[in-house]
Amino acid sequence: MHPPGPPFRRLFSRRTRRSRADEPRRIRAMTPDPLRALWPRRIVVAPMAGGPSTVALVVAAANAGALAFLAGGYKRAADLTSEINAVRASTAEAFGVNVFVPGSSTAWPAGTAAYVESLGPDIEAVGAAPGRPVWDDDDWAAKISALLANPPAVVSFTFGCPPRDLVEAFRAVGSVVSVTVTSPQEAVLAAGAGADCLCVQGIEAGAHRGTFTNYGPPDTGVELLALIIEVARVTDLPQIAAGGIMTARSVAAVLDAGAAAAQCGTAFLRCPESGAHPAHKAALADFRFTSTRLTRAFSGRPARSLVNQFMLDHPEAPAAYPEINHATRPLRAAAAQRGDLDRMSLYAGTGFKQATARPAAEIIDDLVGKT
Ligand SMILES: Cc1cc2nc3c(=O)[nH]c(=O)nc-3n(C[C@H](O)[C@H](O)[C@H](O)COP(=O)(O)O)c2cc1C
Repeated sequence: MHPPGPPFRRLFSRRTRRSRADEPRRIRAMTPDPLRALWPRRIVVAPMAGGPSTVALVVAAANAGALAFLAGGYKRAADLTSEINAVRASTAEAFGVNVFVPGSSTAWPAGTAAYVESLGPDIEAVGAAPGRPVWDDDDWAAKISALLANPPAVVSFTFGCPPRDLVEAFRAVGSVVSVTVTSPQEAVLAAGAGADCLCVQGIEAGAHRGTFTNYGPPDTGVELLALIIEVARVTDLPQIAAGGIMTARSVAAVLDAGAAAAQCGTAFLRCPESGAHPAHKAALADFRFTSTRLTRAFSGRPARSLVNQFMLDHPEAPAAYPEINHATRPLRAAAAQRGDLDRMSLYAGTGFKQATARPAAEIIDDLVGKT
């Protein structure tokens, strides 16, 4: 462990005073890990870009003893800074911020153009303007500068591995660095870059896979319990396990497998503090939707979504992120506004049927096993 800088030191002294004597023995009895002060209840509320992660969700979860993340993805740096300041104004508890590591532009612009062309009937059906399939870096440099100037307790990266000098820069300002990995190979790279911990994402997880690259068939990957064990064979970094965790039993299973904490996204999508679109929340509780699947149809990157007609109609979307994400944005927004569940992206993990509309603090109590 690196010597803790100011935010982590503050958090450590505060969090170690917290008493959770009422929690089940199973959870208290787990082996301590060096970052335990970050997740006293071993629950992490996932960053969920595109609306679900709100200041209210992060504040409610942090006050309930979970480590919660703001989602930096798809936002300008200035808007992310406003959210960070709003969380700080509402709670003294620690929280994290997640950013997308930019990839390269698509290697197949002609395939991307043909795919965008094929969306014509859907665009017409919802009365949207066509989006432009352009590459961008999601305001990466400005977000990194803003976070280094105003460091949160944890910074997490997805879609790639940050370079070692950037990891060291965050450690120097006192932020713990987490990297999302989906395979032992990615875990080795993240450990080599100096990460403090890993978010180990199983194939069950909702929304985008955090893979370092965007190649190959969208539906390949390892189930979470196996992945925790595979990753532990190559590194002893603390693991935050993510993917399909919806109940205290599944939290217990990942902790038993060796994870240090359980990260949940879908479990919080329907809660009142979630900013998910009301149509998305309704779809999660709609018996019409019976399964999820990984698809590139909405964004050009594999993402798990409730199976709807748009996914069935566009099974061969090319690997082109963020180009396709930009191209489908107006279509998705217009579909959401009309409540057209067959043309929206309904991102969710495999456990979506167990998502409830209860307040975040109650969901956290349920996940810990406190009734
Ligand atoms: C709607 C939604 C949006 C998400 N956005 C992000 C994101 O911005 N950054 C990130 O690292 N993970 C994101 N994730 C993935 C979560 O970090 C986590 O891996 C996933 O939610 C775990 O699986 P679960 O949804 O079954 O709990 C998102 C998940 C969902 C459901």
